[in-house]
Amino acid sequence: MLNYGVLEYSDATLAAIRHQVMQLRWSHAFVHVTDMEAMVDFYTNVLGFEVTDRGDVGGNEFVFLSQVETDHHQLGFSATREQSGRSNNVAHFAFRVDDLDTVKTMHQVLTKDDRVTNIMPITHGNAWSVYFNDPEDNGIEIFCDTPWHVAQPQGGPWDPTMATDDIVNATQTAFEGAAEFGPINDYYEERSSHLTRREGGQT
Ligand SMILES: [Fe+2]
Repeated sequence: MLNYGVLEYSDATLAAIRHQVMQLRWSHAFVHVTDMEAMVDFYTNVLGFEVTDRGDVGGNEFVFLSQVETDHHQLGFSATREQSGRSNNVAHFAFRVDDLDTVKTMHQVLTKDDRVTNIMPITHGNAWSVYFNDPEDNGIEIFCDTPWHVAQPQGGPWDPTMATDDIVNATQTAFEGAAEFGPINDYYEERSSHLTRREGGQT
């Protein structure tokens, strides 16, 4: 039993309240960095973020970055990294772009930037992704949706230098026999119905 001031709710009541009034929507990640200016340069000049705020907290610089109007920051950096090399906790941060041509363009940009390592184009059937490591070895993914949903996890390489139509056809051929293959919009509609039922307290 949790106790909020004068009110006491049973665990079952709290669970029902959570389902009815609360939905956690992803906003941002906050990352410890070593070389703040190098990271800000990469994320603004290569990935297109803007610095929305920066300041000092207890002698450490904090920088906030965003590309959208709905979040003051999608990423925060503080110059407080205590170890070099790859973080062991977060595998990658993923950013969605609008279409396949944008993913292809970003792949070209990244392959020409020698601060970027481990570039791997992977399609999961439901996404065309380019994975890479940023200048401080953080895992990053840039992706767009494909027109399809397929059961996860699964994936394989794709070639961002191919013509867009050929990529689409090759991906469909590779995944149309996979479990749950179908239009992505059907999948989103199913998810929407599920979440509506969940808000209503049904399962
Ligand atoms: Fe991912």
